[in-house]
Amino acid sequence: MSYNDHAIAIAEELDAIRDRTQERASRRSRENLFQRDRVGLGVALEYERMGNQPVTDDLAEQAEALGARFEHLGLTLGTVVHGVDLKAPATEPITRFLRQTLIERKVIFFRDQHLDEDEQVAFARRFGELDAFPFGKPGRNPYILEIVHDDQHPGTENGWHTDVTWMERPSLGSVAQCTQVPPVGGDTLFADSFAACLGLPETLRQKIEGLSAVHDYGVFLAARRPGEMSEALVDSIKARIPFGVTHPLLRTHPESGRTALYIHGGFIRHDSLHDSRSGERLDAETSRAIVAELLVQHARPEYTCRFRWETGSIAFWDNRSVQHYAASDYFPHRRVLRRVTISGDKPFYRPEGGGAQI
Ligand code: SIN
Repeated sequence: MSYNDHAIAIAEELDAIRDRTQERASRRSRENLFQRDRVGLGVALEYERMGNQPVTDDLAEQAEALGARFEHLGLTLGTVVHGVDLKAPATEPITRFLRQTLIERKVIFFRDQHLDEDEQVAFARRFGELDAFPFGKPGRNPYILEIVHDDQHPGTENGWHTDVTWMERPSLGSVAQCTQVPPVGGDTLFADSFAACLGLPETLRQKIEGLSAVHDYGVFLAARRPGEMSEALVDSIKARIPFGVTHPLLRTHPESGRTALYIHGGFIRHDSLHDSRSGERLDAETSRAIVAELLVQHARPEYTCRFRWETGSIAFWDNRSVQHYAASDYFPHRRVLRRVTISGDKPFYRPEGGGAQI
């Protein structure tokens, strides 16, 4: 018999065995279905929490009433909202609708908006106070951060992160608009921090419950060019903006009560993990190993959606629900984004089934 004769015979034998086993086991539990790897389970559990539908019925009804249409990019995150003009005067129903869409879908997008700086700032302000950004290129409006890359400045936002975790009260959300798009590439990817948390291997999940990490903006200080920032200026910045703040690795979303994995590979001190209550530190090697594993877990493609920019596109992401990553794959072309960040609150962790705040 040839190889193919054997292969076909074996496939038929195995298939018959599988049929018999499946009959016996009737329906296997979801945990058993995902035995090999929990990543798909993380997405499935998050989608189940969403009622196995991309948005709630209430939100779908609001969209219909307001003439908006959803184009979903991922199962649990990322939606382009069509039919809403962000230049139009703000109304309470639209703002409420967009806020709810952000909470449910974690990152939302708009096309062809072409807001000027003040209009973009005014749009962001509908959702809270704003935080100016001290370490980047400001726009004409001081709340605008210009993110410009070209043949002298390759993209640098190509690490998974959530914005400004070095702040004691990191940003609620960011509103970015693309004003110049490269001919190809330059997409931004977003990853669901709730699904990533649900998909963690059980032992790792238990290990990080009650752990916190120190975050700082050392990465900006390290990136300074010669002569740009004197030691005296660095000291003066550190005196004005706390350098080294503590946040839990598991973060409760203050609006939905859901638990997210909260980590930033660039700002976190990888050897800083410690017990949130006692302050007792893990040994440096263990701490680094856990951080490395969490970063790998959060970056798994199953948790992500990907947004292709056009000029005038807007992305509005919830920094408490997603991480993002700007693909640096368009050099030597120019890519320009304008970003505004909305003020947030102090991260905390309260186990979902009840229990004390950590
Ligand atoms: C950012 O990291 O905030 C900017 C995202 C991007 O450049 O796409």
